[in-house]
Amino acid sequence: MKDYMLANNISIPSIGFGTWTLDEHDICVAAVTAALESGYRHIDTAAIYKNEAFIGEALKQSSIKREDIFITTKLWNDVRGYDETIQAFETSIAKLGIDYIDLYLIHWPNPVKYRTNWKQMNAESYRAMEDLYNQGKIRAIGVSNFMEHHLDALLETCKIIPMVNQIELHPGLLQNNIVHYCRQKNILIEAYSPLGRAKLLDKLELRDIADKYNCSVAQIILRWQLQKGYLPLPRSTNAKRIKQNIQVFDFTLDDNDIAYIDNLAYDDVSSNKNPDTIEF
Ligand code: A2P
Repeated sequence: MKDYMLANNISIPSIGFGTWTLDEHDICVAAVTAALESGYRHIDTAAIYKNEAFIGEALKQSSIKREDIFITTKLWNDVRGYDETIQAFETSIAKLGIDYIDLYLIHWPNPVKYRTNWKQMNAESYRAMEDLYNQGKIRAIGVSNFMEHHLDALLETCKIIPMVNQIELHPGLLQNNIVHYCRQKNILIEAYSPLGRAKLLDKLELRDIADKYNCSVAQIILRWQLQKGYLPLPRSTNAKRIKQNIQVFDFTLDDNDIAYIDNLAYDDVSSNKNPDTIEF
C-alpha cells in the first residue's frame, strides 16, 4: 500500500480501515484482525464508536509491531475544554492499549452541547491536542466534519494547522468547496463513507465502469478516491471484501472515467448531515 505524507512529514497509509458501527466485540475483533492480515496498516476509530477496547484487543493479538500500524481516534462531542480533552485522550489510549495515537481528531465542529460557544471550546480542546502533540503523545492532529467557517475559526487561535480533515466524500458528494480550502492549506482529506454506505454499489453507471476494468464497483470508487488524492476509509465486516478493498493499486482509471465519475449526481446517497444543525 502507498502512503500519503502529512504536512508534518509523517507518512499515513493511503487507505484506512473504517470501524464505525463495528460495536460488537466478536465482529469487531474479527474484522480488524482480517484487515491487519490482509495488509491494512491504518485503523480509524473514535470514542463514540465504542470499539476502542475491541480494536486494542485485535492489536494485541496481532504480531505486527505497534510502530507499523497507524491508529486514528477522535474526541467525541460531549467533551470540550483543555483538561477534559487530555482526560478523553488518556481514556482512549487506555482502551486501545497503546501509549501514543498516530492521529487525533475533533469529531464534529459544532456539537449540540456547545452550540453557543463552539469556537472557544474547539480552541481549548485543540490547544490540549497541540500540547499532546508537542509531548509526542500524538503524531498528528486534525479535525473531522469541519466546513470552511469552522476551520477559519480554529485557524484564528491554533498554532499548528490541522493536518487532516475527515469528511463524508464519495461520488455524488464531491464537497468541492471544503476540498479546495483544505488543498490550499495542505490539509489531507480523508473520506468516510467512501462507498456511500454501500448505496453506490448498485449504481448502473459505476457498474459499467467496473465491467470495463474487470473489478468491483467498490474497487472503482476506492481507486477514484485515491486518484483524486483523498484517503478513503472503507468499512466491511466480510474478510473477502475487506481484502478486495485494498486490491486497488494495480490499475489506473483513465482521465475520462475520473471525469465521468466526478459528474455523477445521486440524491439518495449522502447522509445529509449539516454540522451546524446536528442534534448530537
Ligand atoms: P459488509 O460489511 O457486508 O461488507 P462505507 O465504507 O461507504 O461506509 O460502506 C460500508 C458498506 O459497504 C458496508 O455495508 C459493507 O458491507 C459494504 N461493503 C464494503 N466493501 C464492500 C465491497 N467490496 N463489496 C460490497 N459491499 C461492500
